Amino acid sequence: MSDTKQQKALFLKSKHGQFAVGLNSTPKPGKDEVLIKVYSVALNPVDYKVQEVGGFVENYPAVLGEDIAGMVDEVGEGVLNFAKGDRVFTHGQFSNDQAGFQQFALGGTDLTAKIPDNLGYDDAATIPLALDTASTGLYNSNKYGLGLTPPWVKGGIGMYSGTPIVILGGASAVGSYVIQLARLSGFSPIITTASPAHEVYLKSLGATHVLNRHLSADVVKAAINGFTKNPIKYVYDAISLPETQRIGWSILDAKGCLVLTLPASVQEDEGKERKAIRTFGSPHAKENKELCKGSWAILSQWLGAGTIKPLRYEVLPDGLEGIIGGLEQMKAAKVSGKKLVAHPQDTK
Ligand SMILES: NC(=O)c1ccc[n+]([C@@H]2O[C@H](COP(=O)([O-])OP(=O)(O)OC[C@H]3O[C@@H](n4cnc5c(N)ncnc54)[C@H](OP(=O)(O)O)[C@@H]3O)[C@@H](O)[C@H]2O)c1
Repeated sequence: MSDTKQQKALFLKSKHGQFAVGLNSTPKPGKDEVLIKVYSVALNPVDYKVQEVGGFVENYPAVLGEDIAGMVDEVGEGVLNFAKGDRVFTHGQFSNDQAGFQQFALGGTDLTAKIPDNLGYDDAATIPLALDTASTGLYNSNKYGLGLTPPWVKGGIGMYSGTPIVILGGASAVGSYVIQLARLSGFSPIITTASPAHEVYLKSLGATHVLNRHLSADVVKAAINGFTKNPIKYVYDAISLPETQRIGWSILDAKGCLVLTLPASVQEDEGKERKAIRTFGSPHAKENKELCKGSWAILSQWLGAGTIKPLRYEVLPDGLEGIIGGLEQMKAAKVSGKKLVAHPQDTK
């Protein structure tokens, strides 16, 4: 049993308000839950967007943070596959007990996995939201994705061999995992756009061609035509700004599908078969739960074997307090090709 009753947490104090460190009660794990002592939490664009725009959160003060890695401190009723002392990571959610910008958080066992020995807490924290967004966009068949067969299902590895895919924004966290999953699914070629500095890294993840992200739609299109003669039926736009959506739409086959991470700014063509789907990377959503349970069940094995690689990261200083400056850096688009992570236990 944990004897910790109070913990430090970073609160978003009110809608559109400021972040500040304060005290939160430490939750008790319920049925099929574990209490995690959070050693590393990663930042995501949604964290500053919640402050800016207000969505997702209903009750304030709110604790945010979806990418949680730490040590199991206590297990709830019915938990058999985790024990106190296990190193784990989990996908948090917008609920003060289950969010990661604090020192202890709850994780549901179906969306929690053990960290293999070859990885640290910071590595593991780079995974949950970005990987789940990559997999829902590619494999969700309800509403949030292309409905492809995932590589963790029998026959899924290599299933799309010879089919091209274009991933706009390969150096983003989401894009980096889309590249890796596309590699496992067998797509080829795997064409991505990024700053040229990331070319070697993205090729190590599975990209076959890396185009400078500052090129125009016309130049990108001409280059792609040189890489494959097959139609481009799948484009995953990890960035989904109006300018990247325009590129994605312009290269897409008449029967193709563009996956977006933000609302569509392109118009679906009346009477034509081109589609734009906005994905949703929360594995807690009922449309995603079964799919994501499948990937979470295999993640430890894949990470241990190097089948999926965590992302590059930078550790922010000053524990939870450091998250405030980190979110400002992200908002100013000053973070390139890496995750920012914070260590809640280092909070003064
Ligand atoms: N719908 C959902 O459920 C969901 C879930 C997660 C994320 N998102 C959204 O998805 C987007 C990506 O999230 P993330 O966490 O992956 O972002 P991120 O890692 O913070 O993205 C930063 C990267 O974006 C790249 N980039 C910026 N503009 C670009 C452009 N015009 N073309 C190509 N690359 C560009 C930069 O690439 P270079 O370094 O190469 O310059 C940079 O490395 C965000 O808007 C986020 O809010 C949505």
